[in-house]
Amino acid sequence: SRLVVAIDGPSGSGKSSVAKEAARRLGAAYLDTGAMYRAVTWHCLDAGTDLTDAHAVAQAVKDAELEISTDPGIERVLIHGIDVTAAIREQYVSEAVSAVATNLEARAELVRRQRAVIGEHERVVAEGRDITTVVAPDAQTRILLTASEEARMRRRGLQLGKVEAAALRRQVVDRDAKDSTVSNFTTATDGVQTLDSSDLDFEQTVQAVLSL
Ligand code: CDP
Repeated sequence: SRLVVAIDGPSGSGKSSVAKEAARRLGAAYLDTGAMYRAVTWHCLDAGTDLTDAHAVAQAVKDAELEISTDPGIERVLIHGIDVTAAIREQYVSEAVSAVATNLEARAELVRRQRAVIGEHERVVAEGRDITTVVAPDAQTRILLTASEEARMRRRGLQLGKVEAAALRRQVVDRDAKDSTVSNFTTATDGVQTLDSSDLDFEQTVQAVLSL
């Protein structure tokens, strides 16, 4: 029977790794919507789109030919046939992504594509910032995965390796501040279950998601 699991959370909450592992164990597809925002941002930077020109950004997103793997065992993102799987994780992309994330027309386009992907799968775990509220508010299970700022900075720091404290802060805290102007992912709305992972390790968090 149909199963849609929606997971939202701030950066460093562990939502990507946890959602992917939950999808694997549920035999479900996995959709990383953040990777879509990152990929179209990469495309705008590559094409020299003026990120301060909202109309140009929206147009670039609409024109973007985007392919994303929904197999939780295969991480692969293509834009216009170019494999950008690794490139979209670069810091310069992370720092530019809010130009797309705050663009309402660009969001509408990506939300439309995300709903289409979700609709193609019988079982799917989708994660991002607005999945529980906008993309799939009718999902059977909706989870807001949170963690203290301290825990999120620590996790992201481990993931990025050697990185300046100020850059890490930009990556986590400042980006969340920018994001929260568009989607409210810090407080759960009706019917969304909050899961605080501050004191849980990876396996415990996956288990908690599966039990929900
Ligand atoms: O690196 P992190 O896990 O924090 O973020 P991500 O999931 O890769 O998403 C990158 C960026 O895309 C976020 O900082 C948001 O600006 C944006 N995003 C969004 O606006 N809505 C989503 N559903 C997913 C991501």
